[in-house]
Amino acid sequence: MTSVLFVCLGNICRSPTAHGVFQHTIDHSALAGRVRVDSAGTGAWHVGKPPDRRAQQEALRRGVDISGLRARQVTGSDFHDFDLILAMDQQNLSDLQENCPVALQHKLGLFLSYADHPETDVPDPYYGGEEGFRHVFNLVESASLGLRDQLLQQRR
Ligand code: 4NP
Repeated sequence: MTSVLFVCLGNICRSPTAHGVFQHTIDHSALAGRVRVDSAGTGAWHVGKPPDRRAQQEALRRGVDISGLRARQVTGSDFHDFDLILAMDQQNLSDLQENCPVALQHKLGLFLSYADHPETDVPDPYYGGEEGFRHVFNLVESASLGLRDQLLQQRR
C-alpha cells in the first residue's frame, strides 16, 4: 500500500485540507483502499486541535468533511513510515530536509509539483480572509488530481 503524508506548519489549515481532499480523490478512484493518507505539522502549537473553522467551511462547501481530523506534529518515524512526504511550501520542505535522514530524502517533495499550476507554494492562509482558504482548496484539488493520476500510472 502506498502511503502519503502531507505537511504544513500548523496542521490546521493547508495540510488537513490536502489530507481530506486527496483522501476524497482516492476514495472516488480505482485506488480506493490502496493508499494511506495522513497529515502533520512541522510546528507543535496546534497539536490535538481540529482544522481551522475556515478550512473546515471551505472544504465542506466543496463536499469534503475534514472536521474529524486532529493536528499532530511530524515525528522521526514518519520519515520511515511514509513513501511520500509532501510539503505545502518551500519553508516546510527545508524544515523536513533538516530532520530527515539522508537515505530517506528522496521521499520529500513539494505537493504543488503535481498540480496544473505554476505556483510552487500553497500560501499560508492563517492570517488572511476566506479568499485565501478558497485559493488553498483550488491548489490542493489540482495537486490531488495530479498525484492520483501519477499513482494510477504507476499501477499499470
Ligand atoms: P497551516 O497554517 O500551516 O496551513 O496549518 C497555519 C496555522 C497556524 C499558524 C501558522 C500557519 N500559526 O502561526 O499559529
